[in-house]
Amino acid sequence: MKEVAKYLIKIDAEFVDGKIVTEIPYEEVMRLVNEPNIVIIKTGIPQETLAKVIKGTRQWASKTPLTEAPDTFDNNQHKHRLHIAKIQQAPQLFHDHTFDALLDLEPAFQQTLLSIFDPMRNLWNSLTGNDEAFGIRKGEAYFHPQVTHYPLGGSFFGRHWHPLNPQKVGLILALNQYGKDYTSGGTGYVINDHIIETEGFQDSGDLLLFRYDLPHWVSPSSFADRFSWEDPAGRWVSILPFYNPWGTPADKDEPQGWKTQIQQAKHAPSVAVA
Ligand SMILES: [Fe+2]
Repeated sequence: MKEVAKYLIKIDAEFVDGKIVTEIPYEEVMRLVNEPNIVIIKTGIPQETLAKVIKGTRQWASKTPLTEAPDTFDNNQHKHRLHIAKIQQAPQLFHDHTFDALLDLEPAFQQTLLSIFDPMRNLWNSLTGNDEAFGIRKGEAYFHPQVTHYPLGGSFFGRHWHPLNPQKVGLILALNQYGKDYTSGGTGYVINDHIIETEGFQDSGDLLLFRYDLPHWVSPSSFADRFSWEDPAGRWVSILPFYNPWGTPADKDEPQGWKTQIQQAKHAPSVAVA
């Protein structure tokens, strides 16, 4: 365990039988997340596994028409996100692939995705004391596995936040390498009015953990490069949101909300380790 910058902590892990086993107990990891800090876990997921996810996602996207209709949260789709979020007014430009119906995908690609999403799901369950499986549950919270591509030349995601529950801890897995596959862009956070930019700190296979109600953003890929939706160059990540799409959206009053919740979390009982 090492503090690599203020509020930014790196933790080693081993990848054993498809599980991410951290060097310190999951309860300790969660305590660091809640303090709050940004925690980077060196998962040890093999590079070939990560590369296969990008390749498989691109192949799937090449034979699946882009969706333009509003999200239904019950299918597998991909979309060019290019708008300003209604409530939080966060601008965004990226290409996302959402696999809410992961269990309906053809077996080979499903296995490719599960090779990363199962370890992420297991870790999240261990951190939060849950025992959730994949699958759509109308009117309830469930997993929304997502692979996101930030193309070169000006992709980004503006500052936004989420309700703390039921997610508690957000997960962002780097599928490719900063300095090699892309040279700009990364997730940023603010903790106690201090800005934490993780750009350059997250290697391929590193998993970022963050308290879900912390304001965060994705800094832009350099405008010096030419932008193209088709070019696969750029940053690729996978995330595993867990929420009820028909539930209450995040409050638009950001700072008061998360600072109050951090106060409350300090007094809350700690979660059991699975
Ligand atoms: Fe977010």
